[in-house]
Amino acid sequence: MKIMSVVGARPNFMKIAPFIAAIREHNENIASPDEEIEHILVHTGQHYDDSMSNTFFEELNIPQADINLGVGSGTHAEQIAKTMLAFEPVLLEKNPDWVVVVGDVNATSACSQVAKKYDIAVAHIESGLRSYDMMMPEEVNRIITDRLSDVLLVPDRLSCDNLRREGCAEESIKFVGNIMIDTLDAQKALAQDLDPLAIVREKLLEDQSVPESLDDDRFALMTVHRPSNIDNKEIIEQLVKWIDSTVSNDLIVVWPVHPRARKMLEHFRLWDLLIQNPRILLTSPLGYREMLCLNSTTRVMLTDSGGLQEECCVLGTPTVVLRENTERPITLHENGGTCVLAGSDIEIIKAKYRLMRNMPRKPERPEFWDGDTARRCVEAICGGAA
Ligand code: UD1
Repeated sequence: MKIMSVVGARPNFMKIAPFIAAIREHNENIASPDEEIEHILVHTGQHYDDSMSNTFFEELNIPQADINLGVGSGTHAEQIAKTMLAFEPVLLEKNPDWVVVVGDVNATSACSQVAKKYDIAVAHIESGLRSYDMMMPEEVNRIITDRLSDVLLVPDRLSCDNLRREGCAEESIKFVGNIMIDTLDAQKALAQDLDPLAIVREKLLEDQSVPESLDDDRFALMTVHRPSNIDNKEIIEQLVKWIDSTVSNDLIVVWPVHPRARKMLEHFRLWDLLIQNPRILLTSPLGYREMLCLNSTTRVMLTDSGGLQEECCVLGTPTVVLRENTERPITLHENGGTCVLAGSDIEIIKAKYRLMRNMPRKPERPEFWDGDTARRCVEAICGGAA
């Protein structure tokens, strides 16, 4: 059997790493050569900076992509169109039995569409998530991809219900658990060996002085990259001013800055305000283990990332989600998780911060978030009719 997997952007890499390892393991344990899986990895090139791509391949032991489509940045239409145009000849030449897509980025929906038009079976890892917010480009990607996929590999039971409500065939829905947690489990011990202060010192973006120590529980970790936050001057300005005037007086703030966020912070003239504050430490995007290390030790997380919500849930990190909604409700407090939605109203964000800042760590593992999801994905694909 020939499987072609597709990745494009940072949040895809921690999902594909365990899948490739599980294929390797499958091939080592087959009874006959007919059961061997030939695997081809395609990187669309949506993310291309070392800190957004190569670092993860190296750390997570992902083999170099067999093909890089070199799509790069652009508007959504440009990115999706370029990906489809570049992917089509590769698909035709390699003619796989399956195309496996992960997550909800532009690469995910673009490549599933191309594959389906050639009647090639599609499997979607991280299927069924819904924010029910069509203003999110990722929500559009999720819906397109799930509608086209033959095998829906679902991380939690709430997402299985979403797919059932949309009328997906029961036999296509495979509850396999959360593949990102396979990576977290594989990397956790290595991350614990790192020193939070050394990470921040190495990755600082500006010539800021670093505190003597970054003790457990004395710092907050912050990330924002969603257009709904950083492209909106009013929202990002209020957030930055509150971090500067209040949060940084309470805790040191470590803020790994996404390239898109940096561009917008500079554009809105907020960058200088941030770097003048010695208790706000701006760093370049962190590697996987570096982030895991800081996430395991921070007092509180402030983020609009979906993947971090899941990691925070498993690590028990009290988390203020800087979004109005989430496609990952399983991570929310009311469902046993450690995250609370705070939206973009600064008064609500302040109240949720006060609540979470004093919350004890409470690690939580939803069903099947057990480090064995990738094996279940491979099993489901091998059992599916291609
Ligand atoms: C994409 C995903 C989003 C995911 C995020 C994680 C979609 C629709 N969005 O958003 O779901 O949460 O990745 O990062 O696919 N840039 C660089 N270097 C890079 C990549 C990007 O400088 O290696 C800059 C460029 O200015 C680019 C901007 O970041 O225009 C945005 O990149 P893009 O890939 O369009 O979207 P993300 O915001 O990263």
